[in-house]
Order: sequence, then C-alpha cells, then structure tokens
Amino acid sequence: MCGIVGYVGARDCSDVLVSALTKLEYRGYDSAGIAVFDEDNNIKTVKTKGKLKDLVEKLEREGKPDGHVGIGHTRWATHGEPSDVNSHPHSGARVTIVHNGIIENYIELKEFLISKGRTFLSDTDTEVVAQLLDYKYNGNPLETIDDVMAELRGSFALGIMFKDFPDRIYAVRRESPLIVGVADGECFIASDVTAILQYTRKYYLLDHDEIATLSGDGVQFVDEHLDPIEKELKTADWDMEAAEKGGYPHFMIKEINEQPDAVKTTIIPRIKDGLPCFEECGITLEKIKDFKNITIVACGSAMHAGMVGKYVIEDLARVPVNVDIASEFRYRNPIVGEGDLVIIISQSGETADSLAALRLAKKKGAATLAIVNAKGSSIAREADMLIYTLAGPEIAVASTKAYITQLAVVYLFAFELALAKEKVSAAECKRLVSALMRMPEAIKYVIDNCEEKCKYISTKLLTADSLLYIGRRLDYALSMEGSLKLKEVSYIHSESYAAGELKHGTISLIEDCMPVIAVATQTDIIPKTISNIVEVKSRGAKVILVCTDACARELKEGVADYVIELPHTEELLMPITAVVPLQLLAYYTSVNRGNDPDKPRNLAKSVTVE
Ligand code: M6R
Repeated sequence: MCGIVGYVGARDCSDVLVSALTKLEYRGYDSAGIAVFDEDNNIKTVKTKGKLKDLVEKLEREGKPDGHVGIGHTRWATHGEPSDVNSHPHSGARVTIVHNGIIENYIELKEFLISKGRTFLSDTDTEVVAQLLDYKYNGNPLETIDDVMAELRGSFALGIMFKDFPDRIYAVRRESPLIVGVADGECFIASDVTAILQYTRKYYLLDHDEIATLSGDGVQFVDEHLDPIEKELKTADWDMEAAEKGGYPHFMIKEINEQPDAVKTTIIPRIKDGLPCFEECGITLEKIKDFKNITIVACGSAMHAGMVGKYVIEDLARVPVNVDIASEFRYRNPIVGEGDLVIIISQSGETADSLAALRLAKKKGAATLAIVNAKGSSIAREADMLIYTLAGPEIAVASTKAYITQLAVVYLFAFELALAKEKVSAAECKRLVSALMRMPEAIKYVIDNCEEKCKYISTKLLTADSLLYIGRRLDYALSMEGSLKLKEVSYIHSESYAAGELKHGTISLIEDCMPVIAVATQTDIIPKTISNIVEVKSRGAKVILVCTDACARELKEGVADYVIELPHTEELLMPITAVVPLQLLAYYTSVNRGNDPDKPRNLAKSVTVE
C-alpha cells in the first residue's frame, strides 16, 4: 500500500529518491519522506503529510539533504492517520527505515519495547520495527535484521539505513514486493520496477526473507541463514514512456486510450493458425480438458473481469464457474480440490487477499492459473500456470487497460477450453478468435466516437447523489465494473443491479432525476432490459443507455434520455467495447467534479494488506 525506494551511487540522492517516488505515488499518496546520509554521515530526514509535491515544496523551503545514499517513501496510511509524525522514514537512535506492508504483531512488540524503556513518537507499526532494530543492534546489520525478521509477523518490504554504515542501505522483504535495480556504479531499491526505469532496466527480484546489501561495491544477497546467494539478473521490457503521461492530462485517460494496443499486444502472441495457443504458458488442450469445475477468485475490477469470464466459459465450454471475492474465499472453507481449476486474476499480482486465495487453492489440491499483469509478482510466481496480460504498467489507481486485457485473456482461454471440451469446432473457434482480433479496432472506434458524448453526459451526473447501473447477464457483469469505476473516481455513490432484480426492492430508491445507466448489448434480452428501463423512467429516472446501434435504431422515442451507441461486433465480446463509455463517463465525471482521477481519495493501486 506504500511505495519505497532507495539509492546508493554518485548522483544527488535526494533528487533520485524524489524522482523515483513520483512513479510510485499510485501506491499511496497521503504523506511522503526521504532520509539521506549527509556529508557528515548523519542521517537527515525530511517528511511531510500530503502528496509528493508537498514534500518537494518542503525540501525547497528547508533545503534538501546533500548526499549519495538514502531511502524514500510514499504512504497509504494503515496504522495512524496521515500526519507529519506518522510519515516515513521512521527512526530508532541508530537506524532509519521505510516500510511497505503491515506488521501484525506490532502491539506486542511495542509493549515489549516500552517495558524496556523505549518511547514512541508515532502511531505506526513501522516505528516499532525501527526501534526493534535499534534495540537488537549488535554492530552487525545483517545479523540484526535477521534477528528482527524472526520476530515479525505480517508483510513487509523494508529499506534500512544504519548510522554506523553510511556507505550502504539494506533491503529485505516478506510478502510485500521489492526489487533491486543495478546500473554502472549505482544501485536502487523500489517497490516496483517502473520507479527506476529512468535509470536502469536491470533488476533483481528479492525473494521472501532474503536480505540485500547495496553499497558502492554493488549488491550482495544473503538468504535467511545469512548464506550468500546468487540471483538471476532480469531485464524490464516496460519502457519509461509507458510509465509517463505522454501529453495526456491524467494517466487514467492515457490508459483508456492505450486499450486498443494493450488488447492487441495481449492476444496476438497467444494465437497460432487462427486458434488460441497458450503453449508458451504451459497450457495445452490436454492439460485443461478434464477440469470439471472452475472457480475464479479476485478483487475489485479483476473480479468483475472474472464475472464476464463466468458467463463466457459457461456459455462456450459448458463448465460450471463460480466467481468469488478473494477476501471471502480465503476465510471460508471453499469447495475446491483435485480436478478443479482455480483462476486468480490480478493486475498487480501482489493483492494480499488474492495471493492468500491462491495459496489456499493450492493447499486444497486444485490446479491454479494466474492471469497477472505485473511481471515476476508473487501471484505470477506461485501459480501452477500463468498467463500475463501484456497491458504494460498501469499507473492510474482505477483499472482500465488492465481490466480490458484481463477480459481479452479470459475470452481466449474460454475459446481454448471450449475447444478442449469439444464444445465448439475448430472452425467456430477460429471465427471467435478472428472476431476477438477485430476488437482493438472496435475499441478505438468507440473512443473516437463516444468520448465527446460521454464528456457531455458526465456534466449531467455531477450533482447526483446516487446512481444505478443495470443490465442482464454479460451486461450485468459490465454494470458492476461501470459502477465501481464511477464511484472510485467521482465519489458519487452508485450500485449495480441485475436489471430483473430491481423490482424486488431497489426500485424504491428511484426518484425524480436519479441517473440510471443501463447496458443492453445482448439481442435476445434487450426487450427485457428495455422494460426495466421503462419501469425506472416512468418513476422519474434519467436514463443513459449504452447499447448496440441495432438496439438504438429500434428504440421508441423517449425511452432513454441519452443513448451511447456501440458498433456491431460479436455479441459475446460486447463487454470489451461497452466498458469504454463507462470508463469515459467515470473519468469525465471525476475531472468535472475537480477530483484527481489518478489518485482517488482513500485508495491505493496495489492492496498488499488485507
Ligand atoms: O492488482 P489487482 O488486480 O489484484 O487489484 C484488485 C483491485 O484492487 C483493483 O482491481 C481495484 O478494484 C481497481 N483499482 C478498481 O479500478
């Protein structure tokens, strides 16, 4: 939930830390800080409540620490409100640290340290780790870190400076992500590789309980027994440009516009001779043909992609699919086991609940398949089978291009499964694949033709207190995503409902001028959805209808107040285009209400705590 960085090298450390933190602000943005060894080898810390720009202003006002070794942090508060004092870095007398994650047993550790006469400045679990490191410090940083790690429960990625060792920083992680970057004569730590792409593409993935020492001599790694280890040097294939705004006012709109390419990049390598082919991911027809039950587990937008997957897999492959929220799945006794497939969908690959769900599914003997965007993330590494969505870095907190590429993978996988189960012929499968290949163009068409209309309609939503999204089947799955998108960036309450369910209670909420966004893309049930629209309209709702052009042509005068028409595509694939106006409506409503759509309040991009 936070972003951490660290640097050792010849550059101005404060500048490197701040610049790297700008790429991690998506992980948290309620306070920020840096600590750098100054020329007298003292640790100088500057931190503040607020966004990174507030830290930059403070550094300008107070002078930035001058040095070449340091650590930095951007925070999403878990323990203790956002405040100057709760901001990271935190210190003990001889140790300063930054932390991403949650220390579950911090209260008992704090009580222990208080009983030893220690006092605390902040409410954070992080300060407890700093004080514990200081308390246990024996002159040997590696032994001290190892000793402290044995006492910690929970998740953490830590960047650590010891006052006695001003030429180096230490890094360690358990559950929370951390990479170590290297370039000529300099090294870095970061929660995510995008933070250091401007300096290097070469990096190591730190594994659980490994400790890295970064100094002028380069990077050394030890395992949990403090034995030296060699690690594989990786090369990031995401470039800097992909992590920059490239002329767009916000990452969210940039990423909406990147969707045609993201879908194309994701599907093309997985198509061979016109059929789906996941052999590079270790998935063959033989391997998947016997699964009798599928459970899809994920959170938020990724779970909504799973909902689309349920309809499509059940429809084409005739395999029952259960979709579960990861935080629910992990704390019950789910019925999955040998012979079942559990699919985990996650952009970050680090979502704590999704990771725990994956581990539970494996423990119960189910085969696991991860659909993940972040390369080398925990979920990607731990699943039995893996398909990467090739969306590139998604920076805006609201998922757009990651969601749409999740859909693309889910579709291709459903086609493959249907083929494996002999529920579709090769010819039919080829027809579906070729329809999917036309979707990037269709997405672009929708962006080009609907953006202005969505911008205009968003002005009608600005003062709404509450909205409803309705649809049936795939359109319902999509309504869930549309509703989440709107509420997370505009802060307007909204709910999604299966259209046919409205009259079982929720329709009582409809009052004059309440906006209802209806999605109707599935021909056989369009008349059903239209009658639900008529029901809300006759009770005063303002209806915004997202539908196919064919549906729009047949619409009676006055049924909807605004109609957003989508081009004709394969009906099963309609969510891929229909989500675009819902994203645009959310984006423009957010902007028109004066919000920052990239950094919605109270949220963080990567939810590495439960
Ligand atoms: O990284 P993940 O895909 O596992 O994240 C899951 C959700 O937190 C995420 O999809 C969230 O709902 C989005 N920010 C919504 O736009």
